[in-house]
Amino acid sequence: MAFETDSISPETLIANAKRVLPGGSFGNMPAEVMIRSGKGARVFDESGHEYVDYLLGSGPMFIGHAHPDVTAAVEEQLPLGTTFFANNRHGIKLAEMICEAMPCADQVRFVCSGTEADLYAMRAVRAFRKRDKILKFEGGYHGMSDYALMSLAPKRPGNFPRAVPDSAGIPKSVQDEMLIAAFNDIGMVEGLIVENKDELAGVIVEPFQRLIPPQPGFLQALRRITAEHGIPLIFDEVVTGFRFSYGGAQQYYGVTPDLCTLGKIVGGGYALAAVAGRTDIMKHFDKLAVADEDFLFQIGTLSGNPVAAVAGIATLKVLKQPGAYEKVFATGRTLMTALRDLLTNAGLPAQVIGEPPLFDVVFTREPIRDYRDSLKGDKAMATRFNALLRQKGIMKGESKYYVSLAHTQEDIDWTIAAWTDAIAQMKM
Ligand SMILES: Cc1ncc(COP(=O)(O)O)c(C=O)c1O
Repeated sequence: MAFETDSISPETLIANAKRVLPGGSFGNMPAEVMIRSGKGARVFDESGHEYVDYLLGSGPMFIGHAHPDVTAAVEEQLPLGTTFFANNRHGIKLAEMICEAMPCADQVRFVCSGTEADLYAMRAVRAFRKRDKILKFEGGYHGMSDYALMSLAPKRPGNFPRAVPDSAGIPKSVQDEMLIAAFNDIGMVEGLIVENKDELAGVIVEPFQRLIPPQPGFLQALRRITAEHGIPLIFDEVVTGFRFSYGGAQQYYGVTPDLCTLGKIVGGGYALAAVAGRTDIMKHFDKLAVADEDFLFQIGTLSGNPVAAVAGIATLKVLKQPGAYEKVFATGRTLMTALRDLLTNAGLPAQVIGEPPLFDVVFTREPIRDYRDSLKGDKAMATRFNALLRQKGIMKGESKYYVSLAHTQEDIDWTIAAWTDAIAQMKM
């Protein structure tokens, strides 16, 4: 089928974008990056260039673009209707699959984005605990709500636990509702929890913060301390859910939170995200299960829509097949090892951090355990490396290689060749 826009040249598209979009883009990538199509682990831009894709739509396309099972499921659903604002069989099935997969999940509430899921998870623990404050970690990303944008990426980090807003337009009062700790610093977290336990509603954490793995024992200690004080622990698994294992980071690291948030992969590339967790917290979404003042009012036009639900179900079915995670991890390990070797042989001050399904290079030899450590990476070098790689057919975001089940040996070879060339140029 031909679209009306098919005949517009890339140059005109960019000019049009610059006219009608602030900054000329949707806000995620530079205006000049315009992707026309994707298939498997490859994407094609509007000028016809082909890329091995490690952006993967910022993570959702874990089984590859336009996967035939997902496409078939969506095509089957489309003539039956797109959204109903009511329960549908596919959303119920997907909720059952989430409860089966995620150790913490007794029940599920669907929303449309990770931002919403995190916002409602924080609200749910406030409703449950009848307290206001949330402890989050500096550098931890939990979407774009006022609360989540506290100390996400402060240019000038403040004194712990004082929150620093990362955006204009956030009421000053929000600063007082958040406590900020350093990731992987269990001493600091314990101190803050003990000191503030009577005001704390919950703790939210990315179990794998951006690219930084938890130090051995950190998540276990966080679980123990929060449980001791009856403070709910939320794992933001928008990225790690169904990526680190079928049971997410909670299964991968062996630590079960009270609530988790899911997004990206669980919607198979469509607008769907979720809060999932313990029944006694989730019951606050149920008007009849709690007193009037404890009810958490939450509705959403597209919540649990059947198109996203069938895409999510089809995606999870692919991931359930034997060997799926072994393949992703093998691909990731091969890539990480190759990149490490190339950087070491070139004598560049760099390290590869992360886990096989999600990693990147940071241009420093200093150990990276928290947000402040990550600032030690040379940003200019990273930007240059990424720009060279884009020219050599590697599509990625600023700071992440998302690995997929669809990446093949050919993609790995293409990537290593691009790294080799780019690193040679970096040395010049
Ligand atoms: C850990 C984490 N939480 C929340 C979000 C927000 O999700 P969304 O972009 O769907 O709002 C993201 C997005 O990248 C994320 O990485």
